[in-house]
Amino acid sequence: MRFSENFITELVERSDIVDVVSGYVRLGKKSGSNLFGLCPFHSEKTPSFSVSPDKQIYHCFGCGKGGGVINFIMEIEGLTFPEAVEFLARRAGMPIPEEENDAESRKRARMLALNKDAARFFYEQLATPAGGAAREYMAKRRIGRATAKNFGVGFAPDSWDSLRNAMKAKGYTDFELADAGLVRRGKTSGFYDTFRNRLMFPVIDVRGNVIGFSGRILGDGEPKYMNSPETLVFNKSRNLFALNLAKKSKSGYIILSEGNIDVVSLHQAGFDSAVASLGTSLTPEQARLLSRFTNQVIIAYDNDGAGIKAAQRAIGILERLDVKVKVLRLNGAKDPDEFIKLKGPDAFRNLLEASENQVDYRLRSVTDKYDLSEDEQKVEFLKEATDLVARLPGEMERQVYARRVAELAGVAQEAVTGEVERRRKRALRSARQSDEREQTRPERQMQPIERSLRYDDPGSAAAEEGLIRLLALDPSLARKAALPDPADFSAPALGKIYSLVRERISRGESVDPNLLGQELSADEMSLLVRILQKPEVLSRSDQALQDYIKKIQEQRDARQQGNDLLTLQQKLKQTKGYRG
Ligand code: GTP
Ligand code: MN
Repeated sequence: MRFSENFITELVERSDIVDVVSGYVRLGKKSGSNLFGLCPFHSEKTPSFSVSPDKQIYHCFGCGKGGGVINFIMEIEGLTFPEAVEFLARRAGMPIPEEENDAESRKRARMLALNKDAARFFYEQLATPAGGAAREYMAKRRIGRATAKNFGVGFAPDSWDSLRNAMKAKGYTDFELADAGLVRRGKTSGFYDTFRNRLMFPVIDVRGNVIGFSGRILGDGEPKYMNSPETLVFNKSRNLFALNLAKKSKSGYIILSEGNIDVVSLHQAGFDSAVASLGTSLTPEQARLLSRFTNQVIIAYDNDGAGIKAAQRAIGILERLDVKVKVLRLNGAKDPDEFIKLKGPDAFRNLLEASENQVDYRLRSVTDKYDLSEDEQKVEFLKEATDLVARLPGEMERQVYARRVAELAGVAQEAVTGEVERRRKRALRSARQSDEREQTRPERQMQPIERSLRYDDPGSAAAEEGLIRLLALDPSLARKAALPDPADFSAPALGKIYSLVRERISRGESVDPNLLGQELSADEMSLLVRILQKPEVLSRSDQALQDYIKKIQEQRDARQQGNDLLTLQQKLKQTKGYRG
């Protein structure tokens, strides 16, 4: 599948990279004509992510990722090229040309239709005689009819082939069912239903597609949950259960819990902004997804060791995205579902209102660790607590919490404030140094980030990069010399980029990374952008062109001779047992 050059060009023109990136990254500081911000693709403390409004490209000097606006959306939203094009087209209000629907998107559409039909089948089973056990279980868990309908909760009958038969009657094949994770292939005989005798929760994405299922056993037993495997349309780490409902909530925050039952129970009690991750701890992708819909998350994880650990991790991930985080303290219940059943919705609402912000929560965790009546422990407490306060981004916040720490330890406030500022300077200095070290490591400068693209012949590769850069900046140079063959290049990735560049120039097309997304992989695109970012003195471009070509040819000859020598050695080894 290919989108036409005209369509892509118009899409790129209507999707200004600064606008698009600003939806995800706070772009501040200008340096030259570039805008800088904290890279969304790796963790850093000083900005090395640059966006060029002139060239309409982005490039991170830290992790090496780069490309045009379409690549940015592919990377940050986890989309394929056609999906990213669709995403931007919708944003820009441009219709997608019909005939450009490719085989893969047809397959996705078909899988989504199958999932929707399967969800409907499961839902209908609840009302049948076979659904009796499920109805009983729901009654026991106090999941009402309206709630079940709202979530599309259903039942997978206790049978090896009821879903399979129903879907085959609708025209789906065993292979389509297997690709969607709804049936499995038996060792000896044919296919059988994956989900049997389970309460079924459809997982629905923010666009309303049924992308997978989560099936809970009725009662006790192992495994408690079975989830759809990763498929063409289902990626656990990029989706959240019930976000399709929670995104419509007017509450102004999202409640993040662990279990499907917790979410269902919370919605039923009127807390319509509850979501859960899909059996994993919160991932950066899920956090980014959340931050598209809210700037405040209230964590309501299970009241156990695992839940507390998971909360700490989630706080770290959400904070980086400028999402305000609060943590709920569930007293006397193991999870939100149990809490609501024991104490009722009003008690839960009180809990929400009393929930601590993450600084209080972490400060309390530190305080709980020490016995502050002992001098030695008090010193340890002060070290850890001032370190926590020193890392808070806001000046006011640091003041407030420094006072709190001083009160807790019973020392003068000035002592704490002084220590906080010292630690803060030290932390900032070392963050800056480590970012700088990372960026100035010589091998980092020369070598592509991606291992599979490493250069075997750095001397030649430098010239190959130079030739690509010159031609991209000034295509007219292509007529001024006999250009080498892509096969003369030492690095396959550079050879590929070079031949693409040459082809485009010969067709009179521009070498804009924004237009090459269909041809290059993400790593190759990053490599191209990195090459284009390096300075080139165009005033002496004729000479540079000659130099680069000469170098590439010399290195090719040298490698050739080296190879000849190697072959000779191998021959000798074989005939005489020669060791070289
Ligand atoms: P109960 O309150 O015990 O009914 O269940 P719950 O819905 O609250 O789930 P729980 O807190 O036990 O687990 C949280 C999440 O972890 C679930 O929603 C599942 O996504 C996942 N999970 C739990 N048990 C299993 C399991 O046995 N296998 C898999 N793959 N995932 C599980
Ligand atoms: Mn639970």
